[in-house]
Amino acid sequence: MLRVIIINGPNLNLLGRREPEIYGEDTFEDFMIHLKGKFVESDVELTYFQSNHEGELLEKLHEVGFHYDGIILNAGAYTHTSVALADAVSGIETPVIEVHISNVHKREAFRHHSYLSPVAEGIIVGFGLRGYELAVEYFL
Ligand code: DQA
Repeated sequence: MLRVIIINGPNLNLLGRREPEIYGEDTFEDFMIHLKGKFVESDVELTYFQSNHEGELLEKLHEVGFHYDGIILNAGAYTHTSVALADAVSGIETPVIEVHISNVHKREAFRHHSYLSPVAEGIIVGFGLRGYELAVEYFL
């Protein structure tokens, strides 16, 4: 059984209510039901963690990063600011896929740089919530 965790960072608890023209109208909880349904026949256990606190995201990466098979990380705005998260991704053993719901390269210049991309296994950007699904497929 493959163990994969989705870790979402700041403001992603507001999905469905936050700028729906950019991030869509689905809540992440509803999306998780869809995602688990989609992979119900597959040999994968999917878990979800969200925090608005950088330190909690670091602690979750440390906690799962030596025994999970895959981490799907959308660090939200910390993507563009956090050396600490990049160091955590470098320091753990589990491969990390960086996901962004929106195409950050179409948006403001400050979203074009990611501290995580150089240390991620791969990057999925701009495919909406579908990006998380593609990341699970990669790990499978
Ligand atoms: C985001 C893009 C980030 O620039 C932004 O700060 C977010 C969401 C995305 O999924 O498109 O919070 O990571």
